Amino acid sequence: MFNVILFGPPGSGKGTQSEKLMEKYGLKHLSTGDLLRSEISKKTPLGIEARNFMDKGQLVPDEVVIGMISSLLDNNKEATGFLFDGFPRTSAQAEALDRLLELKNSCISVMIALEVSEKELIHRLVQRGKTSGRADDDNENVIRARIVEYKTKTAAVADYYRKFNKVVEVKGEGSVEEIFEALCKQIEKHSDC
Ligand code: AP5
Repeated sequence: MFNVILFGPPGSGKGTQSEKLMEKYGLKHLSTGDLLRSEISKKTPLGIEARNFMDKGQLVPDEVVIGMISSLLDNNKEATGFLFDGFPRTSAQAEALDRLLELKNSCISVMIALEVSEKELIHRLVQRGKTSGRADDDNENVIRARIVEYKTKTAAVADYYRKFNKVVEVKGEGSVEEIFEALCKQIEKHSDC
């Protein structure tokens, strides 16, 4: 299996690039943000719980997202590889993901970290907030809170994968096509698990 983590702060382009990567490489896209928003729109108990955190720009508790990913891995047994977008976001999530993949005799092939300045992140999210309808984009304080969560809880996840020599950094500023090409180059340098 070929499993990629597309990593980076809010607004770094994970969702935009994931769409293109899953099409090119036939990977199953797992975005915890999209999954949680779908639960919110269906007003499920999980969605109602998650919303309290997401609207404030805070991370949803680990057990909620780990449970969601675990059932998705089980429900996609035929997948030849996964593209993780927005997961793992804490060290506990990274450790849980490794254990889940191990059960499939698999592992993370590479983590690609998109690097974008904070000024550009805020600009992109404020712009998107004008039309997206995403509650966590329409207020700059919440956007800043998401970036603080990233710095304090999520950035360390890259250190976890660095220990296994699995992290590559890619500049996330420039045109979507330029960034996509840089990501493809990195993906093609790495092999399956
Ligand atoms: P999530 O949905 O994962 O959002 P995020 O990480 O905050 O990221 P975004 O979707 O805002 O940005 P992105 O990096 O995907 O960039 P995008 O391509 O969209 O998470 C939302 C919330 O859910 C979290 O805050 C948390 O509460 C909860 N959650 C999710 N996963 C969790 C987990 N594992 N654990 C706990 N809680 C979790 O692009 C952004 C904008 O920039 C777009 O408008 C796009 O058009 C534009 N753009 C993209 N590329 C470029 C470019 N090259 N140049 C100019 N503009 C660009």
